[in-house]
Amino acid sequence: MSKPPIGGNRTGRKLGQKVKKGKLKASSRRWIERHINDPYVQRAQLEGYRARAAFKLLEIDEKHKILSGAKRIIDLGAAPGSWSQIAAKVTNSTDAEPKVVAIDFLELDPLAGVHILQLDFLDPTAPEKLMTALGGTPDLVLSDMAAPTTGHRQTDHIRTMHLCEVAAYFAIDVLAEGGHFLAKTFQGGAERELLTLLKQNFKQVIHVKPAASRAESVEMFLLAKGFKGRKPGARSLYDSETEIDDRDVVDERDAVEAE
Ligand SMILES: C[S@@+](CC[C@H](N)C(=O)[O-])C[C@H]1O[C@@H](n2cnc3c(N)ncnc32)[C@H](O)[C@@H]1O
Repeated sequence: MSKPPIGGNRTGRKLGQKVKKGKLKASSRRWIERHINDPYVQRAQLEGYRARAAFKLLEIDEKHKILSGAKRIIDLGAAPGSWSQIAAKVTNSTDAEPKVVAIDFLELDPLAGVHILQLDFLDPTAPEKLMTALGGTPDLVLSDMAAPTTGHRQTDHIRTMHLCEVAAYFAIDVLAEGGHFLAKTFQGGAERELLTLLKQNFKQVIHVKPAASRAESVEMFLLAKGFKGRKPGARSLYDSETEIDDRDVVDERDAVEAE
């Protein structure tokens, strides 16, 4: 489904453009230059996606087939909305009968077939509001949530990992049997306890770094496939007796980075 990024100028804009030195700080100028010269940004514009992030999901799906057959999808941390655009398409979602619910504390422009909640996912009312809006069990929970950066690397890491962890608990609480969970995490991967919890609840757990995720970024994704279903007495993350064995967690990072 996803093609490699175009290397040229199908948007009519040349790659390798420079931003003139002016009042901008050097770091802002570098960011703008990187953005306008990014082939994924140009391709997103061409294909009508709201963000280059679309290609991360499409590339992960190309290899791991998580979108096909999805009937209901929850998109956590959805703004500006490219993952929701894809989710609405694959579920044939309509405004009359939305099959996709998106949440973000930022405002999202309306999207056909997507029920949007402007709310912090960590708000205690969020899970119930998401489920009421969806009106049924999701078979895919997506989370591209990243905590707003503070500039302190460790703090940012901990806050995003916390979002990933809360999203994982939510997924385990709500997913249909056989469903999948995809979440943004950081290099170094998820904490072992979280991996263990996911391994207990899903048939396969994989760390993925799609090509569309910038090589210099510490971002990566955790994909848990094939939810086993809720079982009474399932062990939780806080169970001190949990035996950690992450040997079965597939790590695609080396392979992907070598490509
Ligand atoms: C990388 S962006 C998501 C991009 C999106 N997947 C797309 O395709 O357009 C991460 C989003 O997570 C949101 N976010 C971070 N923490 C959140 C929280 N606690 N609750 C809701 N949204 C959150 C941010 O506001 C931001 O819009």
